[in-house]
Amino acid sequence: MVVASPNPIRNEKIQVFDLPVIDLSAPRSVVSKLIVKACEDYGFFKVINHGIPEEVISRMEGESLAFFSKTVSEKQRAGPANPFGYGCKNIGHNGDMGEVEYLLFNTDKPSIAQRSKTISNEPTKFSAAVSDYIEAVSDLACELLEGIAEGLWVPDTSVFSRLIRDVESDSVFRLNYYPPTSSSPTSKVGFGEHTDPQILTLLRSNDVGGLQISPQDGVWVPVPSDPAAFWVNVGDVLQAMTNERFVSVKHRALTNSFKSRMSMAYFAGPPLNASMRALPEMVTPEHPLIYKAFTWAEYKKTTYSLRLSDSRLNLFRI
Ligand code: SIN
Ligand code: FE2
Repeated sequence: MVVASPNPIRNEKIQVFDLPVIDLSAPRSVVSKLIVKACEDYGFFKVINHGIPEEVISRMEGESLAFFSKTVSEKQRAGPANPFGYGCKNIGHNGDMGEVEYLLFNTDKPSIAQRSKTISNEPTKFSAAVSDYIEAVSDLACELLEGIAEGLWVPDTSVFSRLIRDVESDSVFRLNYYPPTSSSPTSKVGFGEHTDPQILTLLRSNDVGGLQISPQDGVWVPVPSDPAAFWVNVGDVLQAMTNERFVSVKHRALTNSFKSRMSMAYFAGPPLNASMRALPEMVTPEHPLIYKAFTWAEYKKTTYSLRLSDSRLNLFRI
């Protein structure tokens, strides 16, 4: 259904779709088929009954809110966002602007513990909240990836999850805070249009909407907020590994004029030296190989040279 209201940003079409919802309490064989279909249709789906305790989520949300409520100079004690720390209204290293503040972590426990000392007056509590949250979402990402492998009939069902469980996995965790843009009657771009580069993203937000996905050029679909659920994005690496059977969905986040929006994104990524290539099962005479193999380190380098909205995978097209 095309909604008549004009898009707050440009004259793009806003469409409302029923996005796929996967109930993880359903039988595994059903779940894996539904996930594969959702990844093929949208590269995006919602997960309910995911088993992550509400307490783990609310503890992380409480710590996140406490951090973003501090003064700018206190927040800056966390260090600049590149490579890990606090950033503000300038996403990435390439001039893409947005109305967002964020706190970026790598996901190994010693680094989290160390960084927490500059973030919180109660670093042990903060560090436990982040580590517990990351452990839970990383397990969920692995469960989903194993379901995906099963649904694709790939014999090695840990072919994706192994990359996340690897001690060298280059996964990243980011807390985003979008202050209300009260001076503006309409929403603004909080986080500009992009695809996520890693394998899979697990995103959870407070009860303020703002996320939009773009399954077709020029069409934006608002994603309703649901603080009890996770939204899952296919990343560029999974697009390459499935030889484009799945597509990493373009998305962005808008601000709200009245309420602050807070989201937490876990980006499940491979080790830096891992070679990313299409699984042999995904390459057939009808679907010849689309991308040459690349290491995750090579792929990451492209994120420094291109704008957030550019399609980086095109650089590796055969
Ligand atoms: C992101 O795409 O990483 C941020 C999305 C959001 O805040 O919902
Ligand atoms: Fe994203």
